[in-house]
Amino acid sequence: MTEYGDLEKQARERISAAVDLPALEALRVEYLGKQGSVSGLLKSLGTMSPDERQAKAPAIQALRDAVSGALAERKEAMEASVLEGRPATETLDLTLPAPETPRGTVHPVSQVMDELAEIFADLGFSVATGPEIEDEWHNFSALNMPESHPARAMHDTFYFPDQMAVGGRKMLLRTHTSPVQIRSMMAHGAPLRIIAPGRVYRSDSDATHTPMFHQVEGLVIDRDIHLGHLKWTLETFLRAFFEKDDLVLRLRPSYFPFTEPSVEADVGFALVDGKRVLGGSGDAPGHGWMELLGSGLVNRRVIEMAGLDPDQWQGFAFGVGVDRLAMLKYGMDDLRAFFDGDVRWLRHYGFSFLDQPTLSAGVGARA
Ligand code: PHE
Repeated sequence: MTEYGDLEKQARERISAAVDLPALEALRVEYLGKQGSVSGLLKSLGTMSPDERQAKAPAIQALRDAVSGALAERKEAMEASVLEGRPATETLDLTLPAPETPRGTVHPVSQVMDELAEIFADLGFSVATGPEIEDEWHNFSALNMPESHPARAMHDTFYFPDQMAVGGRKMLLRTHTSPVQIRSMMAHGAPLRIIAPGRVYRSDSDATHTPMFHQVEGLVIDRDIHLGHLKWTLETFLRAFFEKDDLVLRLRPSYFPFTEPSVEADVGFALVDGKRVLGGSGDAPGHGWMELLGSGLVNRRVIEMAGLDPDQWQGFAFGVGVDRLAMLKYGMDDLRAFFDGDVRWLRHYGFSFLDQPTLSAGVGARA
């Protein structure tokens, strides 16, 4: 036994008697910490003469290794016994009900966009997208909207600062989904059948207008397209969407720079207990017409600007508010609530994500 034998023996006894990890840590500090007794012995080596140091160093270092070894061993044993003890003390009752997991819903806007994609897929349309940050050429000029057009004014459109112009074109938040018409024609040529759902922005805000809202654009380019194609397509789409076979459409002359002729499509409704119920002719007694969407035959200047020959290719286009479609179909009356992010509203009007819309099953069953 070295001259530190007693110290080592005492340390080992105390370490094996330590009851928990904090007690063990206190012992580590007592022996090996900065002010610890073993650390003190190690430090004292520095003050010894070379001969003395040579004589004592091995024993002191052996003491340090013995103490730190004993600490590590005891720590490992304690941790192992904590793990082993758990199954004995913990029980798991598999018959208890599981805690409720929060479940999200599908926003009505997303639901309606899915329904539209389904309906138009059956009619041979694919879904196209375009950027929400547009340039004024795609958003206005290529759509035959002259510099003087009121929609181009600052108070209707969110522009980016002039120094952010790209290729001499000012940048803006697109005011409608119609620029996707131009982008699709330029990218894919003709013939073409697309819908383009997405966010659009206008400087507008009240109960029925929000600065951001949603539209879906439709575009068909082919040979010999006429207004009959437009009317059949809109009627078929609206009857499927509203699940109303007796829905009646009325086309009314209108004006858009990018369509010629332009028509506004109205749907007939009946007033039932003060509520508008879609279906039937708006001219019948107790009925009325509701303006729903803008459309028309694509202006030949637009076809030309998108790089196609208007003598060979014609088409029709329409644009409709997705939020408005949702409000009409599911009976919400304040557009602003769509974008407030209030979970209570979403729980009330939201849809189960398992509820995939299909035409045959009847779209949009409420969760
Ligand atoms: N872009 C038009 C709007 O936002 C709607 C529209 C689209 C009209 C396509 C005609 C053809 O009001």
